[in-house]
Amino acid sequence: MEQINDFMCRYKSYNFATGLTTAEYIDSLQSFEIRDSDIFLVTYPKSGTIWTQQIIISICELSGGLNEYPNNLEQMPWLEYTEGREDYSLRPSTRLFATHLTPALMPLGLKDKKAKIVYVMRNAKDNIVSYYHFCSAFAALEKPKSFESFFEDYLKGNVPGSSWFDHIREWHLKKDQYNILFLTYEDMILDLKAAVTKICSFLGKNLSEEAIEQVVEKSTFKTMKKDSKANYEFLPQEKMSGNFMRKGQIGDWKNIFTAAQSERVDKVLQEKLGDLSLKFIWE
Ligand code: A3P
Repeated sequence: MEQINDFMCRYKSYNFATGLTTAEYIDSLQSFEIRDSDIFLVTYPKSGTIWTQQIIISICELSGGLNEYPNNLEQMPWLEYTEGREDYSLRPSTRLFATHLTPALMPLGLKDKKAKIVYVMRNAKDNIVSYYHFCSAFAALEKPKSFESFFEDYLKGNVPGSSWFDHIREWHLKKDQYNILFLTYEDMILDLKAAVTKICSFLGKNLSEEAIEQVVEKSTFKTMKKDSKANYEFLPQEKMSGNFMRKGQIGDWKNIFTAAQSERVDKVLQEKLGDLSLKFIWE
């Protein structure tokens, strides 16, 4: 790994937070053995990962076939991190994994299109704001000097997870190689029940109307904030002084962005993703 600063290192053009993984482990993921029943949740950081984690776990719990784990992090561990890693080949199915990786770093076996991938993206402006607050609160990440400096780093992809633009571009360009469902954070906010139903049918889980309602209820911001298995308050205080469940809204960027910053994002978005005809909801 190339050490970029005290908080960030780079491997194969992708930025990791320091200390969470190794080059050897990332390389070993190429031959990670995939089962047809595996489910992967892929996101760029701060795009609604723990929210979708709660939805997928609740769906799988209600449809049967999940072992009990103390919390959502252990039920759906991070694929790329070595901390807390176990021998996943010994895990009973259904195995669930979360990851922020790009397609080039993912297990090659996923291209057999049997295991399922749920990809969630969030509009870049709210994503920047959420990431900025998270970096201020999470001990393992570099504390931003100011919103302006974080904004510049983010646009250059000088943050863990690298560039939001590249992440979205690469996953969309490679979509035909995978069995993948694309969702947006904003669609989930605007109609959670529709999003849950979509995920449920993509995962091939047959849930009654009542069970779907239960998943929706377990996944609202209000319920998750109180759910100690889902809200990541189980992380030790020295790692996390803030909250994963911060505001949970669309449009918070308007409280902090200048007009010039908003225009910059629009411009970069057009340059980098304009050809993909993606639709973003900003408010
Ligand atoms: P904000 O910082 O804008 O509040 P991730 O899990 O990828 O780190 O993303 C965290 C973001 O998802 C945070 O956004 C958090 O509040 C939001 N989030 C988590 N659970 C949510 C829920 N049930 N409903 C809406 N937003 C949620």
